[in-house]
Parts: sequence; structure tokens; C-alpha cells
Amino acid sequence: MSRGLSREVLDDIRIRSDIVELIGSQIRLQKAGGNFKALCPFHKEKTPSFQVNPQRQIFHCFGCGVGGDVFAYVMQTEHLDFMGAVRYLADRAGIHLEFQEGDHADHDRKRAMYETLQQTDAFYQRCLKTMPAAQPARDYLAQRKIEAASIEAFGIGFAPDRGDTLEKMAKARHLEMDLLETVGLVVRRENPGRGSPWYDRFRGRIIFPIRDEQGRTIGFSGRILTPDAKAAKYVNTPETPLFHKGRILYAIDRARRAIADQSEALVCEGQIDVIRCHAAGFTNAVASQGTAFTADHARILHRYADSTIIGFDGDTAGEDAAIKTAGLFLQADLSVRVATMAPGEDPDSFILKEGADAFRTRIEQAQSVIAFQVQMHIRRSPPRNLAEFMRISRAVLETIAMSSNATMRERLMQEASRLLNIPLNTLHENFRKILQSNRPRPDASDPNTPDATHPTDDNPPPVEEIELCTYLARYADTAALVAQYLPPKRLTHPLCRAFVQAALYAAESGQDIQDVIRADESPAPGLDSFAARIFMAPAKLVGTEVTPQAPMQDLIMKIWQRSLELERNLLGPDQAERRTELTCSLRHFKSRNWDDATGIMTLETSP
Ligand code: CTP
Ligand code: MN
Repeated sequence: MSRGLSREVLDDIRIRSDIVELIGSQIRLQKAGGNFKALCPFHKEKTPSFQVNPQRQIFHCFGCGVGGDVFAYVMQTEHLDFMGAVRYLADRAGIHLEFQEGDHADHDRKRAMYETLQQTDAFYQRCLKTMPAAQPARDYLAQRKIEAASIEAFGIGFAPDRGDTLEKMAKARHLEMDLLETVGLVVRRENPGRGSPWYDRFRGRIIFPIRDEQGRTIGFSGRILTPDAKAAKYVNTPETPLFHKGRILYAIDRARRAIADQSEALVCEGQIDVIRCHAAGFTNAVASQGTAFTADHARILHRYADSTIIGFDGDTAGEDAAIKTAGLFLQADLSVRVATMAPGEDPDSFILKEGADAFRTRIEQAQSVIAFQVQMHIRRSPPRNLAEFMRISRAVLETIAMSSNATMRERLMQEASRLLNIPLNTLHENFRKILQSNRPRPDASDPNTPDATHPTDDNPPPVEEIELCTYLARYADTAALVAQYLPPKRLTHPLCRAFVQAALYAAESGQDIQDVIRADESPAPGLDSFAARIFMAPAKLVGTEVTPQAPMQDLIMKIWQRSLELERNLLGPDQAERRTELTCSLRHFKSRNWDDATGIMTLETSP
């Protein structure tokens, strides 16, 4: 975690950056008991479920689950990485950071790259507006019915049809060609001879600046004016230190407010679709940029939205892409609907032809991804017998299997059952087979993967495990009981397990759990935010002063019971003896007899 910074400096920044003051300067905080409450800045809500705890200097939203310390807050609101958040807060607190020379240089160079891109962006826009040679580009945009307001809002520009435009611009503005090359604006010649070593990447093209979430230009996409078999329709900035196409959503800077407000994103294939949608009032539209959608795209969308509507072209490629994209979105716990287009139609042409109202109807009537997929398969090759229905059901189940949310999976499964007229339990049976063939079993020889009795997945942690963590966070002296009777590997959820381990270590070494987690060099992913949630759990526990011995014992027995039941479920037919033994043991846990249960715990724990 230190990354060239000492723990002392980080602690210093943390102490001088009061989380209540920082968050309070951005949103309205209301005192609520020992905490502060607010409407969550990370998702749309009507009643406040976002809380800030001044003692622990953490925040947590009970609605959307985000949480962490002041660094986590800044990373998410300012869209910075950890070092960026450190710099931001150090700046704010007036703390001078002693970085190595390299770090400084790196920071300055990035600033220069943004500056170069910003200048070029403005330059291309001016070319479109003023150059006589840009007349065909202006005509083209007019013919495509892209209005002046859209040109302005999206910063559309024109790159003249020459190889030395940017070199001239750079000279006039004292920009370094080396930087233009780094950000992908010019390309180095193989054999420059006596000529210039560089030439422009974008020539004779309409320019769409690509901007990050904060609206900074990080790259460009250039569209050709007239169809040309030899030239690509679109030329895009290649991967650069600032431009990672797998993580860029076109127009996210303009769409993110609307996406968060509606908690829904409209996902298109091309930038002209996006521009058309925005102009027609669908300001939650975004597109990927020069690539298929990725899991990163889905995660970014999930920061703003719960659901998505896919509006791709109505041709075969568009339909296939819609299914693939839907899978990635389901994986990121986004719900997905598909707005269907006729073949050859995309949101741009649809809105031009049918109007915004008709498009709104299309969106309102967008089908669930399952209905879309079933209909698509039936239309492409109508099933004539049971086997062919099963083939379709298999494809649909593959999509459902992508979902990380058990409730959503069940709902989709019921829908598939209804649409395909296949009994739900038959589908469930096939689904289990698909899950088994898709998910590799954890490798028992790898010490980092939990043993086979503890399958992990993205499901929410079981309540008893969460409650155990809550007790440990609130009553330090409950750790002794856990240390004696509950080996952490009995917990099924990785974050609960990591939290319990930290709590046990904290108790043993006389530290605070939060400090132990912070000091961890490679914490379990998400542990920070999970811990914030645990620390902020509402005080619904009885007897606030004394150690809650009885409920604690109850939880330990429940967790053991779950763990042993899981083991029993995974036994093979040749392990009848162990099965009988487990069934017998489980009786003591189910009757919640602590004395009998501890006997079995000891037995099961001894090697
Ligand atoms: N694209 C690309 N490179 C290409 C073709 C397409 O990067 N050679 C990207 C562009 O971002 C484009 C999107 O894929 O916006 C969709 O391409 P396509 O469906 O071919 O074009 P449209 O969006 O319909 O573009 P237009 O309306 O300008 O023809
Ligand atoms: Mn189009």
C-alpha cells in the first residue's frame, strides 16, 4: 500500500483530512446519533442511506454498498487511483509529499499530455468551423442532420487532409512532438529521409474527441467523409498511457449524471448513435469506443446504474453482440433489456426516421434479454422437436449463468421456463450441469483457494457470518470465543473470513481491527469497503455493555452447521460413513446444545 510513501505520511494525510468536513463540503450531511447521514452521492435515492462515522473516519452506503475511508471516498468521487487520491488530499491539507524525482516527472508529463490533447481538441474544432477546406466536413454533418448544438456539445472537429497539420500547430503553440506521439496524435515514419519524422494519424476526417469521466480529452475517433474501400471507416487513438479502449465509454462525461439519475444506461454501438440519442433527449446514452464491450465497461456502468438497455444494430452481428454484451452486464450485476431494431437499423437511423417518441416507445418496450434471446433463436431456426428446444434452452442458460446475482438468476430462469415451455426443475437440472462445466473446481493444492467444502462465489455473505463480524467489530472480547471454537476456514464467504482473521489478529496483538486491515500489504479485494459496512452496522444488538455470550455461541454453531452441511452435500456415494457421522454431528448443532457442539468442534478441528 505504501507505494513510495511511508505509513506515517499516509496517517498524517488521513488525520488532517477530516472525512466529515470533506464530504460535508460536497453534500449536505445531517447529524444522526453519533453518525452523519446524507443522500448517497453514488446512487439515486430518496431517503438517506449514506452514513459517515466521524470516530472511525469512514463512510458507508446501506443502499448501494460503497464504503471505505477518506482515500476510498476521493478515489470514487474524483475517479482517481490510490496515488491520485493521496495527492489530492495532501494538496488539500497542505502537506508536501516527498516523492522520488521519477514520480514528480511522471506527474508533470501526464499533465503535459492532457494539455496537448486539450489544445489539439480545440484546434480540430476550430478547423471544422473556420477552414475553407472543411466545407465537405460541414456538408457531411449537415447531411447527417447533426445540429450545431451537438457539434458544440460533443466538440466535433475536423482534421485537415494533410500529414503535417499537427506539426505546424505544435510549432505555433510550443507543444512537443514527442508528446503528440505519446498520446497517439502523430505517427513516426519508418524512413523519414530528410523529411519530417512524423505524420498526422487523423487526416481528412470528422473528429470526435473521446473524453474521460471528468470531461478531459484522452483520445479521438476520426470518421471518413466518403466511403472508401481502402481506408477504415473509423480511425481511433491507439492504446496510450491515457487511452485504454477497453475502459472508455464514449460520452460518459455527458451521460453519467443522467445515468445515475435514472439508474439506467442506454448502451449503443457507435458515437453517432450516442450523439443522436442525446440530441433527442436520451442523455443516458453511451457507447464503447472502437472495441467490443468489456467487463471493465460493465463495472464502470455499474458504478452509476442498476440496469441497462442495449440498443445495437438490428443485424445478425448486432444481435450476437447484444447477447455477448448482456452476459458481461449480468456478470456485473446489471439487469439488461434489449431494444430491438430492424435489420440495418441503428438508434441514429431509427430516430431520424421515426422520431424521438417512437424511440422512447422502443425503449419502454425493450424486452428482457432472455425474451430477446429466445425469440432470436426461434426466428433464426424454428425448433421442430424437443432436442432443438433443449439446444435453445442451453444457449439461454449460458446467458443466465453469467449473472452474479442469485435472485436475478432465479427470475431469469422462471422467465426462460415460461417462454420455452420447459418445466422449471428441468431447467434447474440443466443449469447445474452448465455451472459445473463452466466453473473450474478450486485447485486443492493451491493454498490460496479455500478447500472444496467452501465454494466461494459472488453471492452475498450469509447473515450469520455478517453478524459474527458485527459482534467482533463491536465487542473486542468476543474474539476469544471465536479464536477457541471457530477456525476461519469454516466461514464460507471470503470477505467475512478475511475480516474474522483480521479481528483475531487484532485481538491477539492488542490492536484495532481497522489498523490491522490498513496495515495489510495485500488485502483481500473489497475488504476495505466491507469493513466499513461492518463498522457501520446499525446497533441492533441487545445489551450494549456486556459481551453477548449466548448470541455469539449461537452464531458460531450456525456457521459450523452450514459448513458441515456443505461438506455433506459434496460427499460422494462412496463416503457413506462420513455422511452418517456428519448427520449425527449436525443434530447437536441443530439443537443448539453448546456443550455437545463444542465437543464436536474440538473433534473436527483436531488434525
Ligand atoms: N468503429 C471503429 N472502427 C471501424 C468501424 C467502426 O472503431 N473501422 C466503431 C466506431 O466507434 C463506430 C462504431 O464502431 O461508431 C459502430 O460502427 P458502425 O456500426 O460501422 O457505424 P455507425 O456507428 O453506424 O457509424 P456511421 O453511422 O457513422 O456509419
Ligand atoms: Mn450509423
